Amino acid sequence: MGAGTMIEIIGLEHVYMRGTPFQTRALNGVDLRVRAGEGLALAGATGSGKTTLLLHLNGLLRPHAGSVRVGGTRVGERGGDLLELRRRVGVLFQFPEQQLFEETLAEDVAYGPRNFGVRGIELTERVEEALLKVGLDPVLYRQRSVHELSGGEKRLAALAGALASRPEVLVLDEPTAGLDGRARRALLGKLARWRAEDALTLVIVSHHLEELPGLVDRLVVLAQGRVVGEGPLEELFGREEWMSEHRLEVPPVTRLAARLRRAGRPVDRLWLTVEQAEQGLSRMLQGGR
Ligand SMILES: Nc1ncnc2c1ncn2[C@@H]1O[C@H](COP(=O)(O)OP(=O)(O)OP(=O)(O)O)[C@@H](O)[C@H]1O
Ligand SMILES: [Mg+2]
Repeated sequence: MGAGTMIEIIGLEHVYMRGTPFQTRALNGVDLRVRAGEGLALAGATGSGKTTLLLHLNGLLRPHAGSVRVGGTRVGERGGDLLELRRRVGVLFQFPEQQLFEETLAEDVAYGPRNFGVRGIELTERVEEALLKVGLDPVLYRQRSVHELSGGEKRLAALAGALASRPEVLVLDEPTAGLDGRARRALLGKLARWRAEDALTLVIVSHHLEELPGLVDRLVVLAQGRVVGEGPLEELFGREEWMSEHRLEVPPVTRLAARLRRAGRPVDRLWLTVEQAEQGLSRMLQGGR
């Protein structure tokens, strides 16, 4: 594996209910490389294989063909160090209730690091640190039952559980689903900061492409268990029709920039964010065009 590569997926295939009449080819030969510290987004229509791909990154699913390597740990159809893989990779599931199962929030967040041998005061500190990081006050939440949290709180609790093992790679499956506007912005801001400050490698699935600028650099599009396109956000957001064929809607400000450009207005680069649109528009207005 090349220097600086954190994740390397080669020829990954996965078939659910293999050998039954219900078998589904969810991944059909996926190749993917992610650099250490990179932010990568995965998108694609419902059922395209995004979740299945993510579940291979920490060994919850095993490849039926091909291999997955994270850092120095390789997992194939057989063999591989799953415990080491789970220490390196923290995952936030699409449905967080699937990963909360201890009585109290403190026990739940402690589950990962305890598995990796952390005990005593250090374990308590890890739990507090993780709860603080996601914005759940330990004093108020530590002893709460995981079943008595709101949907958004469950998502943050599950994220704290993923962070408590201090992973090198954070994998998030639609992390902002069910959060209100402010909580969503706060979480996206934190993710961007952790990526920068902790050199975290980030892999995020999102149907909301407007969340991605500032958080990730590259987008990979899946369809029917294959990678059908990938590139920098500017490039893929500029392919509005192709994106739409894959059920992906580029942000409204990007669509506006493309329309203005087609109408002959001076839009030198596509806008990906409201801030870029504001700057572009005010320049256009000053120029009287
Ligand atoms: N546990 C399972 N058993 C059988 N088939 C499954 C299972 N999980 C997923 N599948 C099938 O595998 C395919 C890929 O599913 P996956 O959950 O990876 O899609 P996705 O891209 O994450 O979709 P979504 O955007 O809806 O979350 C789909 O056809 C789905 O029906
Ligand atoms: Mg999914």
